[in-house]
Amino acid sequence: MKSLSDSYTLSNGVKIPCVGFGTWQTPDGPTAVAAVKEAIAAGYRHIDTAQMYENESSVGRAVRESDLPRSELFITSKLANPEHGYDETMAAFEGTMRRLEMDYLDLFLVHWPNPAATRERWREANAGTWRAFEELYAAGRVRAIGVSNFRSHHFNALFETARLTPQVNQILLCPGETQDGVRAYCDERGILLEAYSPLGTGRALGDPTLASVAAKYGKTPAQICINWCLRRGWLPLPKSVTPARIRENADVFDFELSDDDADVIASVDLGIKAMDPDTMPF
Ligand code: A2P
Repeated sequence: MKSLSDSYTLSNGVKIPCVGFGTWQTPDGPTAVAAVKEAIAAGYRHIDTAQMYENESSVGRAVRESDLPRSELFITSKLANPEHGYDETMAAFEGTMRRLEMDYLDLFLVHWPNPAATRERWREANAGTWRAFEELYAAGRVRAIGVSNFRSHHFNALFETARLTPQVNQILLCPGETQDGVRAYCDERGILLEAYSPLGTGRALGDPTLASVAAKYGKTPAQICINWCLRRGWLPLPKSVTPARIRENADVFDFELSDDDADVIASVDLGIKAMDPDTMPF
């Protein structure tokens, strides 16, 4: 990858810009509008939001206020946890499209495999949700469909009724958390991995090992984390609301990590691990 507009190709042939702008924990309103507009001006072509982030309206507004045609941007959103099941998913999708004020979505993800609200019947609820996703895809309302936070047993259950394989799995991937089991599962099935919290929710920035690797390349810890994700074939989704950082996180294509340094980054312990999707209280 050489620039923010270079792409991965999903299993259905759709091209997805190689770095997404993360908006988790970005407050709705002027903060989110300004951050997304700043990102687009800095060259990001892929914006990642979610129903549960409660900032879809601001993302939509920022896209409309940018100078780019809709077709030059790749927009992802995710189904909220309480909305699993066929009817719930269909209604929730329409809510996303109303808030974004868009007539199609590029990528829609099932945010969580086993939400508390449907924990007693998560397999059945996911089967209904996935049937809705497949219909939205077939109708051209969304160009690609996928999941988030799924592990192999969640995929295996989904595949009992699925007609389409998810094109994406968005999971926590950062130095020290490489989720090797689910990574191998997705690689074998052509499911692109997207990395949320690629900076370890910001913890990478204060890590002395990462700082010393970064110094060797004349880059910042944030930049080496993002470059390291791309080197592994993942699609990083760095989040920031700070203009200088938004631009810094886009300047990641002018250096190549050595194998040794990539191994050091993989083994750093930031004290952050993926949550267990089957036991979280949401
Ligand atoms: P802020 O949004 O206030 O700029 P992650 O993407 O792993 O979830 O990390 C996001 C966190 O890292 C946010 O707190 C964000 O702060 C911070 N952050 C993002 N980019 C940088 C950067 N280049 N330097 C320092 N902190 C950053």
